Amino acid sequence: MISKILDMKKRKEKIVMITCYDFPMAKIFSKSAVDMLLVGDSLGMVKLGYKDTLGVTMDDMIRHTKAVKNGNTNNILLVSDMPYMSYENNPAEALENAKKLVEAGADAVKLEGGKEIIKSVISIIKAKIPVVGHLGLTPQSVNKFGGYKVQCRDEESAKKLAEDALALQDAGVFSIVLECIPEKVAKDVTEKLNIPAIGIGAGKYCDGQVLVSDDMLGMFTDFTPKFVKKYANLAQNVSDAVCQYSREVKNGEFPQEGNTYK
Ligand code: KIV
Repeated sequence: MISKILDMKKRKEKIVMITCYDFPMAKIFSKSAVDMLLVGDSLGMVKLGYKDTLGVTMDDMIRHTKAVKNGNTNNILLVSDMPYMSYENNPAEALENAKKLVEAGADAVKLEGGKEIIKSVISIIKAKIPVVGHLGLTPQSVNKFGGYKVQCRDEESAKKLAEDALALQDAGVFSIVLECIPEKVAKDVTEKLNIPAIGIGAGKYCDGQVLVSDDMLGMFTDFTPKFVKKYANLAQNVSDAVCQYSREVKNGEFPQEGNTYK
């Protein structure tokens, strides 16, 4: 599975990743030509109504990883996010938590950060659990960044991002998500890496793209980042359907003969 993703970079074939949080969507996405499913901790914002991802717990990630695993009928590579404070400070604790996500059904885990979390990354990889890195606008650091802002706009921070990416690659991660950075910076890093760089708000030169499914399906309507393309308007479709159901119940059109036991 991992080797397929690595080969795609060699063949210059774009990699498609999408976030997924529950059983019904996993069943649909599993049959929709994607290469990786991500149980992202964006779960906190798009499914649990939190203002950021910091409140997401290991229990949340385990429950939703299990649900996605159950719907992943085509065995698409399933990556689960390690939530805030489950890996940063203690490599042994990071490994224990990574194991719990694997037990729940994850094929790999994703951690946010560069050199500062490398000991945790190494301890997980040593236990033969594949790891995805995540650099740039790492949402678990939203308070440090002072909001969801484009990162690496100056030379120094772009240099640091490249160093972090190479350190993660040396540690053995099999791909890196690059979030919300200028296209030129993402292009340079993508070219430096032997492993795939998966962009979100990082332009077209990355080896693949990831989007939050609720954003691209028009289900999450609180705000839409510039880098999102809406491929559907599900919030409107769902609202239209429920309003029609309500109208039909109230005016006696539903249920009809065909919906009734005799
Ligand atoms: O949690 C998430 O959805 C993510 C993506 C933004 C890559 O980490």
